Amino acid sequence: MSSEDPQPSKLGTKEHWDSVYEREIANFEETGDEGEIWFGEDSVEKMTDWVIENISPTNSPTILEIGSGNGTLLFSLVEAGYEASRLAGADYSPDAVKLSRMIAASREGCEAISFSTCDFLAEVPNKLEGQGEDGWDLLLDKGTYDAIALGEKDESGKSPVEGYPVRAASLLKKGGYFLITSCNFTEAELKERFITPETGLIYHSRIAYPTFSFGGKSGNVYSSVAFTKS
Ligand SMILES: C[S@@+](CC[C@H](N)C(=O)[O-])C[C@H]1O[C@@H](n2cnc3c(N)ncnc32)[C@H](O)[C@@H]1O
Repeated sequence: MSSEDPQPSKLGTKEHWDSVYEREIANFEETGDEGEIWFGEDSVEKMTDWVIENISPTNSPTILEIGSGNGTLLFSLVEAGYEASRLAGADYSPDAVKLSRMIAASREGCEAISFSTCDFLAEVPNKLEGQGEDGWDLLLDKGTYDAIALGEKDESGKSPVEGYPVRAASLLKKGGYFLITSCNFTEAELKERFITPETGLIYHSRIAYPTFSFGGKSGNVYSSVAFTKS
């Protein structure tokens, strides 16, 4: 892998996320605040628009968000017309799952989203009722690959994130999509990491964000790239 993994930080630890969601549950109970929208509302809107443009809700696609946090992205898909009982969120922090279920119960039409606790690097996320052997039509990641890339490396200097692309691709059905939004990796780096013979993923499309220019270079604050399984 030629692009470097970032240095480990607390954002790559389960303790960090457990304490974030413990606090967010207390806030939600006290004030009804649903918590932080990671990368802001613009990214939720743009990812939702991408889904609408590429996968019709009329086909009731199966959609899994990896590291679903407070569930904002999945709630946005329900608002856009996707069938809640075909949507799932998996997160390794039990309090994230608790918070997302509490918010789902307070939002019309969202109760049927299936949220479950799952360490994506070690476990296979729960399937939906009746899904059988089929893989998912769409996998979503908003900030989770970034968080995992900040985890401690092993003795040989290997980052925990290295196993992620193959795990993600193995959950997709043929022709299924994987849409990822990252602030730590550029589009080129995401392509380099996800398009490999082992994953069988190929580039599909990208979401355009406003660019910035600094010191003679231009770039995006976030990158959202979609891949499809060949
Ligand atoms: C940056 S937050 C993003 C949360 C959510 N996707 C959003 O956009 O609000 C990263 C999420 O990944 C979860 N996470 C980190 N490592 C994970 C792992 N190995 N398995 C499952 N979830 C993980 C964290 O608990 C956290 O909810």
